[in-house]
Amino acid sequence: MVPVLVLHGPNLNLLGTREPQIYGSLTLAEIDRRLVQAGEALGLEVRTFQSNSEGGLIDALQQARDWAKGVVFNPGGYTHTSVALRDAVAAIGIPVVEVHLSNVQAREEFRRVSLIAPVCQGSITGFGWRSYDLGLQALRGILEVD
Ligand code: DQA
Repeated sequence: MVPVLVLHGPNLNLLGTREPQIYGSLTLAEIDRRLVQAGEALGLEVRTFQSNSEGGLIDALQQARDWAKGVVFNPGGYTHTSVALRDAVAAIGIPVVEVHLSNVQAREEFRRVSLIAPVCQGSITGFGWRSYDLGLQALRGILEVD
């Protein structure tokens, strides 16, 4: 099994009750459970982490260098603002796939810009919790697992 990190940014701990018409009704714990299961079927050992703080996310990305082969990352609102997170993604030297539950291209103008996307392998946006599942499949392809 190939170890990978699924990393969730700010406010994603509120999934289930947070604007469910946009983000769906599954809780973060339920999504994580599904991703661990999906990972097993793909030959990936999925570990998950959420932080509301930029520093917490940067620390998780830096630490991932030591144990993970890749990252599926939903940077939440920091997607559109954080140079520091972009720099962390660029620095760690392992593939990162950006994911979003909602279709950020179909929402407010400020969400159409991602500072993170240019340093990721690719982005998946708009498929609800399945964006993460698709992100794991993309990572599997990048990592050429079996
Ligand atoms: C999000 C989209 C962001 O614009 C927003 O700030 C979020 C969630 C998504 O998964 O759709 O917090 O990353």
